[in-house]
Amino acid sequence: MASCRICSADVQPFLDLGRQPLSDAFRLPDDTSPEFTFDLVVGSCDSCRMVQLLHEVPRERMFRADYPFSTSTSARMSAHFRATADQFLRETLHGGDAFIIEVGCNDGTMLESIAAAGVRHLGVDPSSDVLAAARSRGVQTEAAFFEASTAKDIAAEHGLADVVYAANTICHIPYLDSVFEGLDHLLKPDGVFVFEDPYLGDVVAKTSFDQIYDEHFFLFSARSVQTAASVFGFELVDVERLGVHGGEVRYTVARSGARPPSVAVADLVAEEAARDLHAPATLDAFAAAVAANRDALVGLLRLLKQEGRTVVGYGATAKSATVTNYCGIDRDLVTFVCDTTPEKQGRVTPGAHIPVRPPEAFADPYPDYALLFAWNHADEIMAKESRFRDAGGRWIRYVPIVHVD
Ligand code: TYD
Repeated sequence: MASCRICSADVQPFLDLGRQPLSDAFRLPDDTSPEFTFDLVVGSCDSCRMVQLLHEVPRERMFRADYPFSTSTSARMSAHFRATADQFLRETLHGGDAFIIEVGCNDGTMLESIAAAGVRHLGVDPSSDVLAAARSRGVQTEAAFFEASTAKDIAAEHGLADVVYAANTICHIPYLDSVFEGLDHLLKPDGVFVFEDPYLGDVVAKTSFDQIYDEHFFLFSARSVQTAASVFGFELVDVERLGVHGGEVRYTVARSGARPPSVAVADLVAEEAARDLHAPATLDAFAAAVAANRDALVGLLRLLKQEGRTVVGYGATAKSATVTNYCGIDRDLVTFVCDTTPEKQGRVTPGAHIPVRPPEAFADPYPDYALLFAWNHADEIMAKESRFRDAGGRWIRYVPIVHVD
């Protein structure tokens, strides 16, 4: 039995997604070296209810120098981060010594606006390639994993921060105790830790099991973040539901007693209780829905194959590694996956080894069906690819249930 990374109580497994590769390990087609795999099993803590993986992948395996992800590939995400920066500039970062740190700053999409406003900032990320992109945008960076020692060093060199912000990063970090220890050294007395990650409530409601993969160690809820923060001497003081990435929550955490919690915190905790979000029966029902989705998706793809239809994947997302490997979808069922990320093109997807091609390959010629792996960008992609539908193409989607659009 695994122990909870927050409170050390037992973690009960509720969903086994089988052997999985690293979700961002795109390899060259002729690479026959053994591929790293691990058991992707999710559980819930008996005591604090934190949903977490039972097996941890070493961080150096996941977040390498050549981490193939760039925030700025999505226009919607770029707009989201510009709005986030504007909000910090308007509401929090006042005065000459204002200072914001972004953990997992990636290519600097958010901090670019902060830098342009002349406000002190630091982007911290372990992946050196994306940091080069951030620096080219005028962003100050430091190549490091964020933990207690990093935070102490930053505090010693740059002083205390008003805000430590992280998007799609904190759920990647199993050692939250060290993160909070670092925050205690780094934040001003009334400073805030603001982070946004996929929301357990949305994952369960949408059966979006593909939010579960090596990098997503935790699947947060208001209740579990509230408990975790209190374990480490902090307090959840605000929550905001976000529509990005298939449904996220932005959590604001402060030192215990430093700021009054907003009504939104009590409301979201109450909503989670009313829908029994953390109850074992709810999580078991989610697991059953995941298995049913898998069967429906594989059944549809096999039928289309029998009928001689062509199916191409859209978006070689990290999430799609869970879908293809859990469902057993290979290049026999999905000919290739198109993706805008140059580092992924010409390679094959992790585990399933489906070729990745540039977006131009999508229309050359259009397939009969496109399996929308990047479903969190559905509106943006469907608007951009409207000619596919005009040409008779159909979208296959599997969130919240398998359907053809
Ligand atoms: P993302 O949404 O960040 O999902 P994950 O965290 O699961 O990787 O990744 C989006 C992927 O989809 C990324 O590889 C780029 C690709 N993509 C396209 O190919 N075309 C598009 O229009 C968009 C928005 C994304």
